[in-house]
Amino acid sequence: MNRSSNANFWLVNFFILSVGVRSQLTPDFYKTTCPDLYRIVRREVQKALKYEMRMGASLLRLHFHDCFVNGCDGSILLDGDQDSEKFATPNLNSARGFEVIDTIKSSVERACSGAVSCADILAIAARDSVLLSGGPFWYVQLGRRDGLISNGTLANLAIPSPFDTLDTIISKFNDVGLDLKDVVTLSGAHTTGRARCTFFSNRLFNSSGTEAPDSTIETTMLTEYCKICAYKTVMRTQPVC
Ligand code: HEM
Ligand SMILES: *[C@@H]1O[C@H](CO)[C@@H](O)[C@H](O)[C@H]1NC(C)=O
Ligand SMILES: *[C@@H]1O[C@H](CO)[C@@H](O)[C@H](O)[C@H]1NC(C)=O
Repeated sequence: MNRSSNANFWLVNFFILSVGVRSQLTPDFYKTTCPDLYRIVRREVQKALKYEMRMGASLLRLHFHDCFVNGCDGSILLDGDQDSEKFATPNLNSARGFEVIDTIKSSVERACSGAVSCADILAIAARDSVLLSGGPFWYVQLGRRDGLISNGTLANLAIPSPFDTLDTIISKFNDVGLDLKDVVTLSGAHTTGRARCTFFSNRLFNSSGTEAPDSTIETTMLTEYCKICAYKTVMRTQPVC
C-alpha cells in the first residue's frame, strides 16, 4: 500500500468511526484504493464459469469453508503443513477453485497493488458465482483482513459433516453466529455443484441401517441417484434402481 492510499485508508476509517457506523465493513471499502475491483472480479469469475460452470459452486463452497474457521479471513487459501485447512477432512480432495482465486488476485494486484485482501476477493467471487449461476445478488461487506493462521484441527471441528445430525449442524452454525433460518437458506447452495456418492449413498441403499432407501427422498430423484451411485457403492443391497 503506498502512502497516499494509506492516507485514504485512515481517512475512510476515520470517517466511518466518526459518523458512528456500527459495522467496520462496507461495500465501498476500496472505492478509492481499488475502484475497478468489482469489475475485475466479475470478469474473472465470468471467465472461470465459461470454462467450467461448476466452478461457481466450488467458489461459493470455498468461501463457506473459509468463514466457518476463524471467520472469513482467507485462511483456507494458505499453504501450510499437515494441520492446515487445505488438508482438513472436509477440504482434502474436495475444496476446489484455488487457482481461480490466484488468477483473480493477480489481476487485482496488477490494477491496485497491495490494497485488497484475499478474504474480500473470495467473498466477492462467491457472490458473483451465485449471481452468474442464476442465483440472488447481495451487497458484499468489505474490509476483511487476511488471517495468518490456517487451523486444520479447527476446520475438522467447525465445518459441518454430511454425517452430522441436524442438531449438530444447527449448533455448528450457531457457533459462527448463524441461526436456523441461515441453515435452511444456505443449504440451498446445494442446488448447484456436485457431491460424491460416498456422502449420501447410505440414504439411497441403507438408510439408518434399514437396508432400504430413505423414504423421504423424492422418487424420481431416488431412481436417478441410484443409477449414478450404484456402481460406486458397497451398500448395493436393494433392487431400487
Ligand atoms: C449444512 C451443512 C452442510 C453440509 C453437511 C455440507 C456438506 C457438503 C458435502 C459433503 C459436499 C460434497 C463434497 C464432495 O463430494 O467432495 C458439499 C458440496 C457443496 N456444498 Fe455443502 N454442506 C453444508 C453446507 C453448505 C453451505 C452453507 C454452503 C454454501 C452456502 C454449501 C455449498 C456447497 C456447494 C456449492 C457444494 C458443491 C461444490 C462443488 O461442486 O465443488 N454447503 N457440501
Ligand atoms: C486450532 O484450533 C484448535 C481447536 O479450537 C485449538 O485448540 C488450537 O489451539 C488452534 N491452533 C492454533 C494454532 O490456533
Ligand atoms: C447397513 O447399515 C447398518 C448400520 O449402519 C450396517 O450394520 C449394515 O452392515 C449395513 N448393511 C450393508 C449391506 O451394508
